[in-house]
Order: sequence, then structure tokens, then C-alpha cells
Amino acid sequence: MSKRTIIPFRAKVIEPLKLPSLEQRNKKISAAGLNVFQLDAEDVYIDLLTDSGTGAISAMQLARSMNGDESYAGSRSFRAMERQVMETMGFRYTIPVHQGRAAEQVLNFVMIKKNQIVPGNSHFDTTKAHIEFSGGRAIDCTIDAGRRSEGDHPFKGNIDIEKTEAVIREYGARHVAYILVTITCNSGGGQPVSMQNLRDVRALANKYGLPVVYDAARFAENAYFIKTREEEFADTPIPYIVREMFKHADACTMSSKKDALVPIGGFIGIRESEELYERVKTPTILFEGFYTYGGMSGSAMEALAQGLKEVVDLDYLTYRIGQVRRLGELLDSFGVPIVHPIGGHAVFIDARRFFPNVPQDQFPAQLLCVELYKEGGIRCVEVGSCLIGRDPDTGENIRPAMDLCRITIPRRAYTFEHLEYVADVVRTVYEEKGSSQRRGLCFDVEAPGIRHFSSTFRYV
Ligand SMILES: Cc1ncc(COP(=O)(O)O)c(C=O)c1O
Repeated sequence: MSKRTIIPFRAKVIEPLKLPSLEQRNKKISAAGLNVFQLDAEDVYIDLLTDSGTGAISAMQLARSMNGDESYAGSRSFRAMERQVMETMGFRYTIPVHQGRAAEQVLNFVMIKKNQIVPGNSHFDTTKAHIEFSGGRAIDCTIDAGRRSEGDHPFKGNIDIEKTEAVIREYGARHVAYILVTITCNSGGGQPVSMQNLRDVRALANKYGLPVVYDAARFAENAYFIKTREEEFADTPIPYIVREMFKHADACTMSSKKDALVPIGGFIGIRESEELYERVKTPTILFEGFYTYGGMSGSAMEALAQGLKEVVDLDYLTYRIGQVRRLGELLDSFGVPIVHPIGGHAVFIDARRFFPNVPQDQFPAQLLCVELYKEGGIRCVEVGSCLIGRDPDTGENIRPAMDLCRITIPRRAYTFEHLEYVADVVRTVYEEKGSSQRRGLCFDVEAPGIRHFSSTFRYV
């Protein structure tokens, strides 16, 4: 029997899209300082900047959100969300926040003491920034295979256990706030972490008496990779895999804009530590709102609860990850250098190989984002030298292992025909400019801190 992908939904409401003319696109991107974050969304035809909050919600999510309870404290919608987090992840305590970085802010406020370190795998940019903001230091302990765009390691998001142990010993366990596991690794190319690695991290943490925290934004996509790549779980239903994954965590931060299928929202999940829960309450009230709504409306909490149910559906995940894979395979067939294996939420183009003659410190991935917009009105994002920023001690530009252009696929939003268009745009830029392009970009104005959002550039 052929393996057909089931697409477990159809469109009922659509949003019109328009492709601005080439002349308009050139004008707009120049006015935006060659930074796609500075473009207005209406000047973009296909928006692949992020999969964060950009997906389509389901009819059931909409229906439930109409029934949101907007009570300030202890609302019915909060209880529904709390029950769903318990059912999906097995966490006893749920603290809503308005999005993932808010969860990071609150949790780091209570978990990090000055100068403590947080070893982990490819910390996301806001995660790293919040660790530093709380006086800590993020130390990347991703396995070496995860630092290369080539190679077919099935779990490139894995944490290098030996490296992590060496770091713990070097600093001393009391200077380690917690071990962070990002599932899946956004900055590392959307790469998953294996169940075996989650178990090994747990064992290591137990050995040194350390907590384990997951950055769980794409937990369901991670579970799908465990099911399809880790033999032990081939016949295990996704919800069981998810429960097993979270068994090894003490807490999580969640950006619900990803795998809870909502436009806004997040939460902190705590497995069982009542003491941690009590400590988290006060900063939540200060930064976010009362700890049973934390910046979310009752409607949003209902939609989130429903999203957590829908995201662990195997047909959904097969379609979702299959769509990303098919785009990657199409680019492969055109010879475009992409990160392998293809990740869960995005296809990452290796911009150093795409533009081999552009000097590495001239932001090749940022340049590629600009060229893709000019060619076809599509908006992708740089995950590389610009995003990673400067070393907080030396002020030097950090040169990341890879300079990537991320083509991020919103959930349930675009058809594969949209993605075929995207692939054609990438191919055109590759064939016309890939090896002939010799100059890249430099900063016009370098924004301080998280600089990729608002810095402006010019051609060298
Ligand atoms: C892995 C990861 N962690 C944390 C975040 C931050 O979440 P939010 O954008 O909801 O603040 C993101 C956002 O893209 C992410 O990809």
C-alpha cells in the first residue's frame, strides 16, 4: 500500500495575499535598511519569518475561545488549560504567561543566581538573553554533529553529555542553575533531541543534584522525530512519547505560539515542586499578571488548551513535518545547500555554502534574506552572525558555527503550492547569484542587545 499523507483539515476561511511589484519590493527593502524585520507585513507575499503565532487556528479552538471565562482569578478557562497541561505533559503546576520569553524571564528570575551557568543545547536567542539578564551565562553543549550543516545524525539537537559534565565539574555544581534542553533546537536547525539523550541528561542532573528545564516550544515535533527515528518508540502513540519525554524534566518554559497552535500565549510547567511553584508566583504577578492568567485572556487559554490536544495528533504531525521535508527535498533537488537532516519547523539554508564567495563576516544569511525578498516577495530570517551578537565579555562579534537563512513554515497556513513558489524563488537566486555574488552586507546602524530586529545594513 502506498504511504499517503493525510491532511487532517481543509480551509474554511481564507486571507487574501498580494505580491508587490519588483520595483515596490526594491524600494521597500531599501527603506527597511535591508532588514526584513523592518518591512510591513502587507509588503510581503509569503511570510516565512517565523512559525511563532503565525499558524491557523482550528474551528474548535475558535469555538472554545468564544466560551472563555475572563474572571481575574481562578477562571474556568485557566482550570481547563491546567488540566490539559497535566494531561499532555504531566505537570502538576501551570503558570500562564503571555509568551515564551515571559516564561524565561519569570523562571530565570527565581532559578538563576548571579554568575551561575546554564549548560544546554543551542539556547534560543531570547533564552540566552534572559539567562544573561538574570546574571547567568548560557553554555552551549550541543553535540558536535549539530554544529555542521552536513551529516545525517538523526538527533542533532542532542546534548553532549561528556561536554556538559566537564562544564559542571569545571564550574562546580553549585554554580550551575539548571540544565536546559531545547526541544526541538530552533537555533540549531530545528533538530530534535532523542529520548535516550533526555534520559542521559536526567541521569547526569541527578548525579550532581541539578534541575532539568525544557524549552518545550516544539515538543510535539520533537516527539514525532522520536517516533520516526528511535526504534524503541516506533509503535508508541505520540501522547505517550510526550509524557515519557516530560517525565525527565523538573519544569518547562513554553511558547504556546508554536506547538500549542495559538497566536499568543505561553506557560511555565512545574512537575511537582510546590516550593518552586510558590517562588514563581510573585514574579509572575509582577511581570505578567495574577498567576492564573499571567497576561493571557480566558479565550486565549481555552484556545491553548485545545491546541495542546490537536498538536499531538499523528496525522497532523505527519502532514506538518512532511510539508517541511518536501520543501527541503525540492531545494535539495535544485542543489541548494541546506541543513540535513531537514528539521521540524523550517528548512535552513547554509548561506556560507550558498554564497561561497561572500566573506563570512559580511552576513551571508542576512544577504540571502534580502535577495529572496527582492526576487519573490518572500520573507525569511537570518539565524547566524547577526542574531548571535557579541561576546558579553570581550564585545567581539561571535562567529557562529553556521550562518543560516531560515525558511520557517507556519502551521496549517500555506499549501504546498505556496512552497513550490518559494523553492522556485530560492532556485532563481541560487542560480543567478550563488557563486557570482562577492560582496555582502555591513551594519549601517547596529542596534544594541538583540540586534537582528532593528539593526540596518548596507551593501559592502
Ligand atoms: C526554542 C524557542 N524558545 C523560546 C522562544 C521564545 O518564545 P516567544 O517568541 O513566544 O517569546 C522561541 C521563539 O521563537 C523559540 O523558538
